[in-house]
Amino acid sequence: MGEQYTHTPVTVDGKSAVVIGGTSGIGRAIALGFATEGADVIATSRDKSKVDAVTAELEEIGATTAAVTADVQDAESLRNLHEVATETFGHVDILVNSAGTVARDALTELSEDDWARDIDVLLTGIYRASKIFARDMESGSIINISSMSADQARAKRTPYCSGKAGVNGFTRAAAADLAPEIRVNAIAPGFVKTPITQGAYDEGTEKREIINQRSPMPRVATPDEIVGTAVYLASDASSFTTGEVITVDGGYSPASI
Ligand SMILES: NC(=O)c1ccc[n+]([C@@H]2O[C@H](COP(=O)([O-])OP(=O)(O)OC[C@H]3O[C@@H](n4cnc5c(N)ncnc54)[C@H](OP(=O)(O)O)[C@@H]3O)[C@@H](O)[C@H]2O)c1
Repeated sequence: MGEQYTHTPVTVDGKSAVVIGGTSGIGRAIALGFATEGADVIATSRDKSKVDAVTAELEEIGATTAAVTADVQDAESLRNLHEVATETFGHVDILVNSAGTVARDALTELSEDDWARDIDVLLTGIYRASKIFARDMESGSIINISSMSADQARAKRTPYCSGKAGVNGFTRAAAADLAPEIRVNAIAPGFVKTPITQGAYDEGTEKREIINQRSPMPRVATPDEIVGTAVYLASDASSFTTGEVITVDGGYSPASI
């Protein structure tokens, strides 16, 4: 007879999570998904009304939560977030970094301010938050929302592509630093219909037509299609996965046409 078989289930039940950029789009879907799966969750961003709205949704699901704003460009606000989360949960198991901005100018038109803001929000913000939360995470999972754009040429997106390439590098290096207690992984979504895309992915737009033609799955994703990967990376089922970037793009990146 062989050894008795066991495996760790994919669940975040009983865990505590903080989702930065958790008030909209992908981050909000992950926050609500975690809560639905039994986690306690704080979802935060800069805008108090958005924070209050998602906190009410989390309460409705039954999660222990707290309403607190945070700006990844402001380390003091992240320290306050960490303090509130620790008071609320006792300790934090999962940190999701999903804050995002995107400048849309060609390189010759791009202002230094816009360049600096995108790099600061997309990359340095992840460093700030991870550093603060990792200090007292005992057995944690940090999940960075990267993008397939980290590895692609996209016109009028130099800070975005640079920032996301940085996120992938940060993810691998931080995973080496924080092992074995804390795992650090990234999810690289493809095209997901959220407010950041400003309607560009709506059916009937020129961009959407091109996406539909080029993608093996001729559509864009909904935010909830990113949630399962986040639950997996947050759960103990991914206990040997760290420093990894998982692309969730409907096959767009590897497509040969
Ligand atoms: N949608 C896509 O197609 C796609 C594809 C690949 C990757 N991504 C990435 O996924 C992440 C989430 O984007 P999304 O599509 O879900 O966009 P979204 O709906 O616009 O959400 C962005 C979130 O980031 C927050 N945020 C912005 N600046 C912040 C700051 N300085 N500090 C804290 N929070 C901040 C926003 O809230 P406040 O304005 O209230 O701060 C909001 O909650 C981003 O990193 C984005 O680059 C998106």
